[in-house]
Amino acid sequence: MRRKWVGGNWKMHGSRAMASALAGAIVEARNGHCDVAIFPPFPYLREACAACAGSQVMVGGQDLSEHETGAFTGEVSAAMLRDVGCGAVLAGHSERRQYHHETDAQVAAKVAQALEHDLAPVLCVGESLDEREAGQTAAVVARQLGAVVAHCGIAAFGRIVVAYEPVWAIGTGRTASPAQAQEVHALLRSQLARDDARIAGSTRIVYGGSVKPGNAAELFAQADIDGGLIGGAALQATDFLSICSAAG
Ligand code: PGA
Repeated sequence: MRRKWVGGNWKMHGSRAMASALAGAIVEARNGHCDVAIFPPFPYLREACAACAGSQVMVGGQDLSEHETGAFTGEVSAAMLRDVGCGAVLAGHSERRQYHHETDAQVAAKVAQALEHDLAPVLCVGESLDEREAGQTAAVVARQLGAVVAHCGIAAFGRIVVAYEPVWAIGTGRTASPAQAQEVHALLRSQLARDDARIAGSTRIVYGGSVKPGNAAELFAQADIDGGLIGGAALQATDFLSICSAAG
């Protein structure tokens, strides 16, 4: 039985005061059984880590450099995230792939950096609307997942959370139907199972894209959906906590 996982991706929202208040409210009210992580913007990681210290709520970065250290202005390394108290990090979010042209190879190198520094990587994969309409969904997510399997090895999926986030469902209010999401989750799991059935059976594959309190329970009830990565609804403690409760 896989333990459910829910993450809150705050994207470029918030302030120091908001980070302390939101993280504090989540820590105070949270008493369920699923794993919960929050991903605030870099400047607010300290506030969030302070609020979550000693709690079950993990704090993570929204991105990391694929390099260890060096002349990479504007980048943040895995070691730095670990140093300020992070336990997780997103890699390959579609907004990074789309607006910052991150390649599969870069994303795989980022996942490797995270693993090396003991951060739980949350590997985001997902197709665009054009790709879905062209019937390329399975091929796109297989390529994105396969790049990380090839670079990091199948054993790494004992620690990686995979987030299936169809780009057309992110921030659009257009959620994948539970059946549409389940279909892709099952494909991703069977791809991992070709390399190692035991690891595939234990890897958490979570869904992201317009998850709300009203649709979370039905999505999380699908056989291969092990929780969610939440954007918009992660900015209000009550909404986020209600989604966490839907996961257990
Ligand atoms: P959304 O974002 O819940 O606002 O659609 C999800 C994400 O991008 O992680």
